[in-house]
Amino acid sequence: MNETLERWHSRRAFILAVTGAAVGLGNIWRFPYMTGENGGSAFLLLYILFVVVLGLPMMMAEILIGRAGRRSPMQALAYLANEAGASPHWRWIGLFGALTVFFILSFYSVVSGWSIEYLVDAVNGGFVERTPAQIGSAFDAFLADPLRMTFNHTLFMLLTMSVVAAGVSNGLEKLNNVMMPLLYVILIVLGGYAVTTAGFGAAMAWLFTPNPAAIDLQVVLNAMGHAFFTLAVGACALMAYGAYMPEEQSLPRAVCAVALLDIAVALLSGIAIFSVVFTHGLDPTEGPGLMFVTLPIAFSELPGGQIWLGAFFLLLLVATWTSSINLAEPMVAMLIGAGWRRGRAALLIGALVWAVGLLSVLSFSTLADVHWIGEMNFFALVSTVPPDIFLPIGGLLIAIFAAWRMLPEAAASALGGPAAGFRLWRGVVRYVSIPLTAVVLLSSLI
Ligand code: PHE
Repeated sequence: MNETLERWHSRRAFILAVTGAAVGLGNIWRFPYMTGENGGSAFLLLYILFVVVLGLPMMMAEILIGRAGRRSPMQALAYLANEAGASPHWRWIGLFGALTVFFILSFYSVVSGWSIEYLVDAVNGGFVERTPAQIGSAFDAFLADPLRMTFNHTLFMLLTMSVVAAGVSNGLEKLNNVMMPLLYVILIVLGGYAVTTAGFGAAMAWLFTPNPAAIDLQVVLNAMGHAFFTLAVGACALMAYGAYMPEEQSLPRAVCAVALLDIAVALLSGIAIFSVVFTHGLDPTEGPGLMFVTLPIAFSELPGGQIWLGAFFLLLLVATWTSSINLAEPMVAMLIGAGWRRGRAALLIGALVWAVGLLSVLSFSTLADVHWIGEMNFFALVSTVPPDIFLPIGGLLIAIFAAWRMLPEAAASALGGPAAGFRLWRGVVRYVSIPLTAVVLLSSLI
């Protein structure tokens, strides 16, 4: 139909593309440190609950809009609104989504750049025979070096935008197809290693022993935002992927498969990382550096650790690459919709995101103490507000449109499956997902 949309030739290709968008820093980097900062099991339990009652039904809502509209997000929303006699303004959800991913990509690229740095270090044997304390201070020294950080951030943006500019993400999905299973193997090996560590019992207890006392409004809000972030829901980024879903594919089944995998990857990284934390007496509330300090320690204790570590960062890079392409695509697609050529659109968006990303780079050195809202410096701000607030707002609007505004027949046929399944989905979205998201969002405002 138009060049902004990918074509999925098989059910497998669709599932892989959505998995590529979903599995990324959210699972391996963000989930563990958010869990650490938000009281362990309290956060974990809420996150799984929100994935099931909000993430899954809203992911179906988002993808079915793309599937029913068979156009890029803003056009699909406009077309479906028109078909249902609803206001054409619904299409602005697409613009809001593009703004959200803009800010997310700006910090996502900076953190993915850390993986490039660590990949190179691992290959050069930079972690051999280092003590945990040395590994920790090397990370701090890296963060304090804006030039090295900028270099890696630039490299990652180039990697992302060159694929987006060429419009060949299909090729990358194929690479993903081979690399992702390897990442899962390494995570399983890490999980196996975690079982042998002295801190494993403490990690399991901390992650899985219910601790309702630790739940407060902030924890609830963070867990909800993380459910959206990790599934890549709420920014219309997955909507475009729905447009070329094969006719016969079951949307609910595909989405459930992706969510299960997504949770499994997060749990495995969490178990591995917290086992190291409790074995070495590290601080679970360490924050965004958690993974970069704990995993090199874990790998250094495995036989052949350097090779595992290098392989891990290479695979993590591929995982973040496929997510960042998904993050960039809605913005580029929007410009293409406005008549731009793909290459130019990618260049402009890439340059803007890169420039804003520099503020995140500097948040670890020069701008560390410049606070934008409350105690938050720029990195703290962009890595929390767009994922934890903007994505749920976007998801909420998408869900209201799909469950209340779209023609029911159009929504039902895009969801697929029996009529009872459609009624169940719509009932859950209307009476559980939408009110719950709204209540959590509103209560965080007051
Ligand atoms: N889900 C991705 C991750 O976990 C991040 C993402 C968010 C991608 C929103 C696309 C849209 O890393």
